[in-house]
Amino acid sequence: MQIFGVDIGGSGIKGAPVDLDKGDLAQERCKVLTPQPATPDGVAEGVRQVVEHFGWKGPVGLTFPGVVTGGATIRTAANVDKSWVDTDARVLFGERLGGLPVTAVNDADAAGVAEMHFGAGRDRRGTVVLLTFGTGIGSAVFTDGRLVANTELGHLELDGHEAEKRASSKAKDDHELTWEQWARRVQKYLAHVEMLFSPELFIIGGGVSRKAHKFLPLIEGVRAEIVPAQLQNNAGIVGAAMRAAELR
Ligand code: BGC
Repeated sequence: MQIFGVDIGGSGIKGAPVDLDKGDLAQERCKVLTPQPATPDGVAEGVRQVVEHFGWKGPVGLTFPGVVTGGATIRTAANVDKSWVDTDARVLFGERLGGLPVTAVNDADAAGVAEMHFGAGRDRRGTVVLLTFGTGIGSAVFTDGRLVANTELGHLELDGHEAEKRASSKAKDDHELTWEQWARRVQKYLAHVEMLFSPELFIIGGGVSRKAHKFLPLIEGVRAEIVPAQLQNNAGIVGAAMRAAELR
């Protein structure tokens, strides 16, 4: 079975039909730039272009970088235009896509679901925490393979600040931190999450996971195993389609 997956990111909107049995894109993905400011109307138009590129007429799953409840309602927008809050994504995108059925989910939850089925978390039981380090910090928490949605662990407090303001990969760039300096912050953050959840495994995602060799070896004193995500670029697209199938 195929569902169309769309990953809405700060710089690009990427999508493709997803083969749910293989956990992979069924066709080469299409990408358009995210409009700035990334308002609901502008993003909906970008998503329309991506979906129309394939002439797709079936169900669509979307990621969003905030809390999304019931597969539809946007509740928070920490790093995107505030006008998203209380938007019904099912209505907004459904109308723009000529009535196609739409499901929206948190971006880290989508990446986590894909990693648990087809990537670094495959066959892992117990508690697994996936963290994405990008503009913010996203989280997906699993217990025996089942997702606890919308955990938002990037907003935990660390040294009197929101963790994502201190330890995201944007914070590394903004504060011009070395890998060593940044790894110390990430280590402190992981230790805090470990204290709360005692996971067996941390999966580290987001664009920076491609450079895992530069910072994961510097992290000490965390009991859980720590591994980089495996699906990288396409985890959001694949996970959006998988979650859409689960929530329909
Ligand atoms: C948002 C999360 C999101 C994460 C990564 C955070 O600021 O609150 O919902 O998953 O950024 O995009």
